[in-house]
Amino acid sequence: MDQIALQELLSALPLGAVRYVDETASTNDDALQWLAEGAPDASLVCTGMQTRGRGRMERAWYSTPGASLAFSVIFHAGSAEPQAVSLLAPFAGLAVCKALETSLGLSPCIKWPNDVLLGGKKVAGVLAEAVWDGPVCRGVVIGIGVNVASRSIPPMQALVFPAGSIEQAAGRTVDRWELLHAIIAELLHSRSTIGSTGFFQEWEGRLAFKGERVEVFPPAGGRVSGRLAGITPAGSLRIGLDDGTTRDVEAGDVSLRPAPG
Ligand code: ATP
Ligand code: BTN
Repeated sequence: MDQIALQELLSALPLGAVRYVDETASTNDDALQWLAEGAPDASLVCTGMQTRGRGRMERAWYSTPGASLAFSVIFHAGSAEPQAVSLLAPFAGLAVCKALETSLGLSPCIKWPNDVLLGGKKVAGVLAEAVWDGPVCRGVVIGIGVNVASRSIPPMQALVFPAGSIEQAAGRTVDRWELLHAIIAELLHSRSTIGSTGFFQEWEGRLAFKGERVEVFPPAGGRVSGRLAGITPAGSLRIGLDDGTTRDVEAGDVSLRPAPG
């Protein structure tokens, strides 16, 4: 891939501007800098090799040259988006799911709030970062990493949750640039649905472990155990506790796991 070929590949999509770099530390860092310098709305940064990919809380995201996708999309904050900033990561996770379904016939689900799973394994992660000017959201960067070929799956000891790849789930080779096109088309197409009733229905409909016993580890410490009941209208995770009550957990630095046993 190169700058010209990427522009050509995506030329039919309503993107602001497109940047391809052979190698970079993190496309989210590049996109945040570009946003500060005045990147147009719906601009894309994509790389062939990301050397210091980040997840939440500076946790590492591993990419493999020639086998993964690593890219970030910049959205200017429209009138509805500041309130919806916390929904951007699940929105991007849903866009990846829909692209995998329509272009490859796969049935992915979402480990709340936004990890994309196939066959119970994480195949894509999302890091959404907003830039604030006091209470005003200036823009957001949505970074997406996808394990496309099987050699992009990091060794298990580097992970806290099992990882998989798109090719492993599809049982065939997948053109990662066609997949990039499908994901970006979906992101641009679905943007106006963020926070709508349909958005929450789709999110809940794709929820992994729904009705199953799970454990949630909130950042303040401790553990919430119970049955995964669904998503609240605010996007929190609703857990049915053993005493018959429910507890809602807000997204943030929260880890969700199926309960052992
Ligand atoms: P959690 O794993 O606690 O649910 P998370 O899935 O939202 O959190 P982050 O907190 O953003 O993830 O951190 C990134 C995590 O992704 C790391 O903990 C690492 O285990 C995992 N990871 C890194 N690279 C890959 C990859 N290529 N495929 C799958 N998982 C990865
Ligand atoms: C997660 O693990 O859930 C989040 C991982 C997000 C990785 C992507 S790859 C492109 C962009 N650049 C980064 O440094 N992170 C995101």
